[in-house]
Amino acid sequence: MIKSLNIVLAAIVLTATATSATAQRPRPPGAPDPGRVLAQSMCAECHAVQSGQYVSPNAYAPSFERIANVPGMSVPALWSALHSSHRRMPNIILRPDETGAIVNYILTLQDAED
Ligand code: HEC
Repeated sequence: MIKSLNIVLAAIVLTATATSATAQRPRPPGAPDPGRVLAQSMCAECHAVQSGQYVSPNAYAPSFERIANVPGMSVPALWSALHSSHRRMPNIILRPDETGAIVNYILTLQDAED
């Protein structure tokens, strides 16, 4: 019951961001990535959130660079990961624009691994 409600909500949210993403204007050069700023303030207590960081403060939490480089990782996969319950990660309530920004930021870490 709650699970199916979550799926419906995730679908609504996905549709909403797909629309607003096209309306997003490019950031002025040098402006900080809002997703990185959010990740640093909301996720960094457990996750390594920066490019090139692999060791998370919370030993159970994968680094964002690792998450980004999981084969097949995509915007929808991250959205649903952020809207499902995890055993060890608290359910963090994010606004759709915040989720969008963080998801975009995580995906900027893709292929940075070397
Ligand atoms: C209190 C610690 C904590 C915080 C804060 C936290 N996480 Fe996590 N996160 C974890 C742990 C531990 C895992 C490993 C999976 C689990 O819960 O079993 C995880 C897993 C994940 C995953 C992988 C999920 C999957 O399905 O494999 C993603 C994506 C993620 N976190 C994103 C975030 C984002 C984005 C934030 C900030 C908005 C955040 N986390 C904040 C502890 C945390």
